[in-house]
Amino acid sequence: MNNSVGQAVRGKDFWKRESELASLWFAIESGSHILLVAPRRVGKTSIMFNLQDEPKERYIVVYIDTESADSENEFWQKLFNALMEEEFVGKLKKYSKRFANFLERISIDKITTKGVEFGDGTVVDYATAFENFIKELDSDRKLIIMMDEFAQTVENIIKYEDEENAQKFLRTHRALRQNENLANKVTFVYAGSIGLESVVTKMNASKLINDLNSIKVKPLMREEAVLFTRALCDSTSIEMNDDIITILLDKIEWLIPFYIQLLIQQLDILSREEKKTQIDEMMIDGAIEQALSQRQLFDHWRSKLKDGFKKKGYLFAKEILNIICEKDTMSSLKIRNKATKHELDEDYAREIIHSLEYDGYITKYEDGKTYRFNSPLLKLWWYKNVAN
Ligand SMILES: Nc1ncnc2c1ncn2[C@@H]1O[C@H](COP(=O)(O)OP(=O)(O)O)[C@@H](O)[C@H]1O
Ligand SMILES: [Mg+2]
Repeated sequence: MNNSVGQAVRGKDFWKRESELASLWFAIESGSHILLVAPRRVGKTSIMFNLQDEPKERYIVVYIDTESADSENEFWQKLFNALMEEEFVGKLKKYSKRFANFLERISIDKITTKGVEFGDGTVVDYATAFENFIKELDSDRKLIIMMDEFAQTVENIIKYEDEENAQKFLRTHRALRQNENLANKVTFVYAGSIGLESVVTKMNASKLINDLNSIKVKPLMREEAVLFTRALCDSTSIEMNDDIITILLDKIEWLIPFYIQLLIQQLDILSREEKKTQIDEMMIDGAIEQALSQRQLFDHWRSKLKDGFKKKGYLFAKEILNIICEKDTMSSLKIRNKATKHELDEDYAREIIHSLEYDGYITKYEDGKTYRFNSPLLKLWWYKNVAN
């Protein structure tokens, strides 16, 4: 395993997250459609890549990243293009002859706002065209369609078109999931770093996704993080004994693979600079400082907040985070008082706090009433770059 920091990983760089993969496959095999949820950088895309690269027998997996799709039309272009892509069809030939032949034969002229236009001039609406495609799937195969950054597409439609179109788009998806002709043929997996749940709640349309089986991707468990850290150390020339690994993981606390990789990368650089292979605590502190100074790695935590809320909401969210950062914790009561000060309606304020929790900024203590930063690294970054 190489220490690959930044892009979603695949192949031998993927640390096999057995329990996440098992829950996902279990849900797929039990026939549900899935909402894969986790804040940014927890590892959703990497997990989906693994599903695609090592599918279980009888499954065919298609992955699309829909972040740049701004309309229903662009979404379907992405999906049909992925299905008809030469490389995908080539791979299919080995185990799904009928479907591969069909995909090779079919000619789509264009995909317009009216629907899919075929070579023979017929125009069919997206959902029907999709259903017709699926009919051709080999009888013993099931297609898994993974749509990454799906909620972003819904937000884009709201932004560039309107809410009504966004709801129509979600209704089409729901209808496809409930279409009996497709039931044993297709599994839809929706994923993304902004919460689909928050987006639909804002539109009062939760019922359009309440049939989805939501699966959370969590950070690594402590023991797993230790093994992961050891494996990463093996890929570099640094050495860390168990006590030092404990110190490192204590400082990271929110044990997502990304943070561990980032710090190992910085430790590797430091160790070369200092010509010292055995890592000590001072070097860990140095590595944390170096990591946090890379603006592009953390800045999205601020910019996403700005994009995600209207001005009043943004200022409220920012102040709450500044306070939690300065004081370490904040109670729900104090948060409610702040909302009143910002003249925010109670429901909207609650929705903002919910998004902050959902997106991985803050988390509740077990008392269920007091909030703190989810990740000490983010807290440190926020303290230096936003709060002060
Ligand atoms: N299973 C994994 N094995 C190794 N590295 C991982 C794994 N999951 C995530 N990462 C690391 O975390 C980063 C973010 O992963 P990614 O899959 O893009 O997360 P998400 O899609 O949730 O934002 C990757 O660049 C990679 O460095
Ligand atoms: Mg991703």
